[in-house]
Amino acid sequence: MSRAKVFHVEHLSFDYGPDLPALRDVSFEVLDGETVCLLGANGCGKSTLLRLLDGLLAPTAGRIEAWGSEITKERLSDEAWNGEFRRRVSLLFQDADVQLFCPTVLEDVAFGPLQLGASPADARARAEELLELFGLAKLAMRVPSTLSGGQKRRVALASCLATDPDVLLMDEPFAALDPRSQVELLEVLQQLQDRGKTILIATHDLGFAEEVAARALLLSEEHTLLVDGTVEEVLSDERLLLQANVIHEHSHRHGGIRHSHPHRHGARHGTHHHTHGVQDHAHEEPRDDGHCGSGRPPCPSG
Ligand SMILES: Nc1ncnc2c1ncn2[C@@H]1O[C@H](COP(=O)(O)OP(=O)(O)OP(=O)(O)O)[C@@H](O)[C@H]1O
Ligand SMILES: [Mg+2]
Repeated sequence: MSRAKVFHVEHLSFDYGPDLPALRDVSFEVLDGETVCLLGANGCGKSTLLRLLDGLLAPTAGRIEAWGSEITKERLSDEAWNGEFRRRVSLLFQDADVQLFCPTVLEDVAFGPLQLGASPADARARAEELLELFGLAKLAMRVPSTLSGGQKRRVALASCLATDPDVLLMDEPFAALDPRSQVELLEVLQQLQDRGKTILIATHDLGFAEEVAARALLLSEEHTLLVDGTVEEVLSDERLLLQANVIHEHSHRHGGIRHSHPHRHGARHGTHHHTHGVQDHAHEEPRDDGHCGSGRPPCPSG
């Protein structure tokens, strides 16, 4: 049985203003139940694309259809259409502060269900269930703005899931999470996939992309879609990854020998192998904070 089309994106371009391009002629489709990673360097247009798919921005050129109907200003201002769209699609913002605005964590998570017509008791029960799931029960009465970055992100995730959307648009969901929370999020994503949810994840972390998605879209720094393929295809194309600036040529020393090779950062690329003359070396990759693994001194950069 062929799967229904959730998004159909055709020749989509978006400019924030004159000389402020964010997306250039991007076309792709997302099918029901797919998990797709949106990869690309800082500023390539990932967040912009997710905001367009959520109807928060309108295309400068091109079009986006959701379940066969074009997302237009007219439709978004139609209460019934907008209500149904908001029920089905949920965006996790890159910046959790944009997402959290209620006086307490509990109210923030209950907000979506209340908006969609749940009774206060049901909305509260749903919020409590999600806070429990994300290990946030103790924070229920806290003011969201006083939470740590990772706590805010987990509350934002809980509030996104509270309405049980069909489509999750997640902007850097792993950022700011500690390793345990990252693993918990991977488990939650697995459960959502098992329940047939459609998930788009913007990330420049190739390791998480490989972990969660079957398919990847890679955006260039010129804001075009470089490749749309399986995660394996995309992540094995070193030339394209270098071109997109999601891996980089990194030069460093081993025992007095300087060499350079492409580096990728991410959960599943903690170690790699390469050769110096006849010797084969394996070493830990530097993490994004410039440190090699836990407790080690910073990597020499040259
Ligand atoms: N509000 C804005 N006004 C003007 N330009 C913007 C605005 N938001 C983003 N841009 C620009 O649009 C381009 C795409 O930005 P976007 O935030 O979509 O990138 P991104 O891929 O999500 O990057 P990151 O990995 O840093 O989150 C960038 O060049 C950015 O500077
Ligand atoms: Mg972004």
